[in-house]
Amino acid sequence: MLSVLVVNGPNLNLLGTRQPEVYGRVTLAEIEADLAQLAASRGATLAFFQSNGEGALIDAIHAARGKHDAIIINAGAYTHSSIALMDALAAVDLPVIEVHLSNIHARETFRRHSYIARVAVGQITGFGPFGYRLALEAALDLLERQTANGTKGPTP
Ligand code: DQA
Repeated sequence: MLSVLVVNGPNLNLLGTRQPEVYGRVTLAEIEADLAQLAASRGATLAFFQSNGEGALIDAIHAARGKHDAIIINAGAYTHSSIALMDALAAVDLPVIEVHLSNIHARETFRRHSYIARVAVGQITGFGPFGYRLALEAALDLLERQTANGTKGPTP
């Protein structure tokens, strides 16, 4: 069974009450419950991890090696600052799907650059909580195609 790790970074534990005009009113627990249901309907399994700390996020990414088939990540503000997180994702060599609730390209200039994008298969940004569903569909589609082809690494 395919297994995907869903990682959320700093301040995303406050979803639902944090700047609702930007991030909406859906909580992280609700997003995770919805995703778990979608995964079950697709015959896949999910694990969830959230931390406000860069080191804890890196440790969780390292632990995904050999345990999960792909990583969905919303790294929050570390997206724009963390070379260490980018290096961790590159090191474990799993397909990475980057998610943001808001459209980072339509906001402040400092949010337009993503270190995660360099090591991601692709980026889903601006669709609110629905973006996590899109990310899961993208991850499963990729993994199923890789399994069918017997190939490793991202396929076009
Ligand atoms: C975010 C966008 C980031 O710029 C911001 O720091 C976040 C949330 C998003 O999901 O839109 O914490 O990743």
